[in-house]
Amino acid sequence: MSTISVIGTGYLGATHAAAMAELGANVIGIDTNADKVAALNSGTVPFYEPGLPELVSKNLEAGRLRFTTDFSAAAAADTHFICVGTPQQRGSDAADLSQVFGAFEALLPHANSNSLIVGKSTVPVGTCSRLAQLAADRGATVPIAWNPEFLREGFAVEDTLRPDRIVVGVQRQEDADRLAAVYANQLANGTPFLVTDFATAELVKVAANSFLATKISYINAMADICDEVGADVTALAEAIGYDERIGAKFLKAGIGFGGGCLPKDIRAFMARADELGAGRSLAFLREIDEINMRRRRDVARTAADLLEGSVLGARIAVLGVAFKPDSDDIRDSPALNIAASLHLQGAEVRVYDPQAMANAAAAFPTLQYVESLDSALAEADLLLLLTEWQEFRDLDPVATAEQVRKPQVLDGRNVLDREAWRKAGWTYRGIGVP
Ligand code: UGA
Repeated sequence: MSTISVIGTGYLGATHAAAMAELGANVIGIDTNADKVAALNSGTVPFYEPGLPELVSKNLEAGRLRFTTDFSAAAAADTHFICVGTPQQRGSDAADLSQVFGAFEALLPHANSNSLIVGKSTVPVGTCSRLAQLAADRGATVPIAWNPEFLREGFAVEDTLRPDRIVVGVQRQEDADRLAAVYANQLANGTPFLVTDFATAELVKVAANSFLATKISYINAMADICDEVGADVTALAEAIGYDERIGAKFLKAGIGFGGGCLPKDIRAFMARADELGAGRSLAFLREIDEINMRRRRDVARTAADLLEGSVLGARIAVLGVAFKPDSDDIRDSPALNIAASLHLQGAEVRVYDPQAMANAAAAFPTLQYVESLDSALAEADLLLLLTEWQEFRDLDPVATAEQVRKPQVLDGRNVLDREAWRKAGWTYRGIGVP
C-alpha cells in the first residue's frame, strides 16, 4: 500500500487525506498551521463538513492517518498531493499562488525521483509547467502531475470516495499509472480516468466551474424575465431540465452563487485569459459575474420594497449566512453580503445560521448574531431566507406567523411552499416566481 503526503489540510486537503486513508493508504497530512494540525490529530475537524470528523477519527485510530507541521515527514511518502488554497489576490482578479509555490518549495527537498508531486489546487493554466521548470532550475528530479479536485463542500467525503471522474495531467505514462494505482479503488468502481497534458488538466477544473457558474447566472437571468411578466422560473427550470442536453441540476434561481470557488475561479480564469491575449473568449464570464453580483443588490432592494421603501429601523430576521447549506463557509457568501448591506442601511438585522455564525461573526462582527432560530424570528418585520438549511425549509408557516411582528417573507432560495405560506397569512416573495 502506498504512503502519501497531503500538503494543506483545509476543506480539500483534510478530506483528501482522510478519504485516501479510508481507502487503505498511509497518509501524512502536512500544514503550516499548528492549531489545525493539533485539532486534526485529536480527531477534531476545524470546519463543518458532514461525515468528515468520523472519517478522520476512524483512520487516526487505525493508524493510517496522522498530521504534522514538519515537511520532512513527506520524505516517507511516494506520492505528494498539494491541496493548498488559491484565493483571489487583493486588488486583482487573478489567483494568489503564493501557497502553491510555498508548499512546492517546502516539499522539494523531501521528494526524490522515485516519488511524484501531484497538484490538486485550482490554478491558472500554465502553473504546472512553471512548477516543473522551477524544480528543474533547482536540480530536482521529482516528476509532477496535475489532478484537479471536483468535490463540493457539504458532500466532500462522498465526492472524494466516489468521484464522477478522475483527471490527471502528466508528461509520462508511468506517472498516470502511479495515480491509477493510488486511485485503484475508485477505478475498480468504474470511475472514468482521463489522462491529459498539464494544461488540459488545469483547464478542466476552471472550465467546469465556469460552466456551473454560467448555468446559475443563466437561470437567474430567466428569473428576472419571469419577474417582469409574472411567470414562474421554478416551473421553467423544471421544464427545460427534462431536456437531457440541458439537465435539471444547477438551475435553481435565487440569490446567486458564492463560496471559495465559483466566484474567484471565474475571475482568475478571465485574468489568465487576458494574460494569454484571449480575454475576448471569456468576456461573457464578466456578464455571468455581473448577473450574479446584481442578485445581491436586487434582493436588498426587494427587502426595502416589502418594508415600504426603507429598511431603516426595521427588524429583519436573516435565516442563513453560509454560502450554501451543510457548510459553515462564508467566503463570498451572497447571504452574508445581503445581511451586511441591510444592516449598513440601518435595519436591525438578526442573523441565525446553524453552523456558520462563528465564521460570519469573525468576518463581519458588527452584525447581530442570535443563538436560536426563535430568537431571530421574534418580532421580525421581515423574514429573509438566504441559505436553504433543512431546518428553515421545515418551518411551519402557521406557527412562525405567531412569532413575527409582520408576516412577510422573502424566500431567497425559492424553497418554501408559497401556497401554504400565503394561506397562513404571509406576504410571500420569491425569486422569479409570481
Ligand atoms: C463548487 C463546484 O460545484 C465543485 O464541483 C468544485 O469542486 C468546487 O466548487 C471547487 O472548485 O472546489 P462548492 O463551491 O462547494 O463547489 O459549491 P456548489 O455546490 O457548486 O455551490 C456554489 C454556489 O452556487 C452556492 O452559493 C449555491 O448556493 C449556488 N447555487 C448552486 C445556486 O445558486 N443555484 C444552483 O442551482 C446551484
